[in-house]
Amino acid sequence: MPNPKLAIASDHAGFEQKEQLIEWLNQLDYEVNDFGPFDDNRVDYPDYAQLVAEAVSTEQATLGILLCGTGIGMSIAANKIKGVRAANLTSVEFATLAREHNAANIAALSARFVDLNTNKEILSTFLGTQPLGDRHADRVDKITALEQ
Ligand code: RB5
Repeated sequence: MPNPKLAIASDHAGFEQKEQLIEWLNQLDYEVNDFGPFDDNRVDYPDYAQLVAEAVSTEQATLGILLCGTGIGMSIAANKIKGVRAANLTSVEFATLAREHNAANIAALSARFVDLNTNKEILSTFLGTQPLGDRHADRVDKITALEQ
């Protein structure tokens, strides 16, 4: 299976890890579309959550990655966009379950409370795990129905 196309963005708190993660993902042969910011000046996380969420929602990207201080604000904002299931991931176990059970399509990562290597492990798991389907897919369909 070809690598998924990725969309990534952060706020100022996540900027440094975003840059390092892009370099790492490129080395792993992922196509990564960087939606910014392009320096570490203070910005508002909803503006960047929207860019990645819309890329995933319109299928320009298969999966998205967002980084802020906690990952919480990014996930709350991204989940306002239709078709987005953003999960705030702070452990490898949550990355597995967010993909298998919830078919999460955006990983919202914490740059202030989770170190770079742990975020790499979380992302490796997120990108390498597929939704389980069956009863979990029925529940995901119910999430989608809530958007109507
Ligand atoms: C910015 O200070 C901080 O609020 C933001 O990075 C994020 O943690 C929000 O959820």
